[in-house]
Amino acid sequence: MLMLNNKTILITGAGQGIGRGTAQAVIDAGAHLILTDLTLPAARATAHHIDPEGDRTLALAADVTDRSAVAGAIEQGVERFGRLDGLVNNAGVLAMGSALHSPADDLDRQLAVNVQGVATCCQIAARQMITQPDEGGAIVNIASNAGKVGYPNMAGYNASKAAVISLTRSLAAEWAEHGINVNAVCPGGVETPMLGEVAAWIAKRTGDEPEQLLATMTPAQLGRHIQPIEVGRVIVFLLSSQADIIRGQAINVDGGDTPY
Ligand SMILES: NC(=O)c1ccc[n+]([C@@H]2O[C@H](COP(=O)([O-])OP(=O)(O)OC[C@H]3O[C@@H](n4cnc5c(N)ncnc54)[C@H](O)[C@@H]3O)[C@@H](O)[C@H]2O)c1
Repeated sequence: MLMLNNKTILITGAGQGIGRGTAQAVIDAGAHLILTDLTLPAARATAHHIDPEGDRTLALAADVTDRSAVAGAIEQGVERFGRLDGLVNNAGVLAMGSALHSPADDLDRQLAVNVQGVATCCQIAARQMITQPDEGGAIVNIASNAGKVGYPNMAGYNASKAAVISLTRSLAAEWAEHGINVNAVCPGGVETPMLGEVAAWIAKRTGDEPEQLLATMTPAQLGRHIQPIEVGRVIVFLLSSQADIIRGQAINVDGGDTPY
């Protein structure tokens, strides 16, 4: 039996990176998917990649900071697939910069997308899950081990991800009575365009070759980069009823880097 057979799952920021890897893992687990990203071509690229026939995916443009766009995406998804069973809050942004010199706008943007965007998607999705027959569902928020560790030159990002972990705990406690399970995953060092941007930013300051530096940015115990689909497979488990006893948690998927 597939873990998410005939469930409908929405993934934000699904156009590339962890969003795309998660989309692959979720469709492999038997679900229908609402795939959103900032632009329609980005969302469609993942839909074509994982579901060339287009039977099990709906690709839409929706900026997570735009409340009406998120509501519209959920409405269209429910119209197409009948209900919403799960949400993966994957869309996120990172602005590298020292805490002394970063422009205030960088913090605003990271909080708007990484925290407000997640809260907005959770609220609109939960309202849908509560009103449909067989009330309930599952939400997985993608935080980061940065939200626990506090890496240098990422203060705003670290704070935003710590907020996602806190929000996850609050929503799990509040929505348990509606049968909605809310958890977070905390990746680290996943091979995506975002990690490439981090390597490029550091390399510019150290004089290293970005590619060589990127190759060293692997979890010590694992000895290689984590692949997006590996994060996706953990998310599939957390979306499934097999994870009913895991609630309000922030689960490290970082190859052993963070022991807490
Ligand atoms: N790559 C890593 O090592 C790593 C580690 C820990 C956490 N994360 C988190 O995982 C998630 C995905 O990261 P990634 O590495 O795949 O990043 P990425 O930059 O490669 O992809 C992010 C996707 O989100 C989309 N997006 C950005 N802002 C959006 C918005 N306002 N509305 C809708 N979509 C938006 C982008 O268009 C892009 O497709 C993020 O939340 C990130 O913070 C990544």
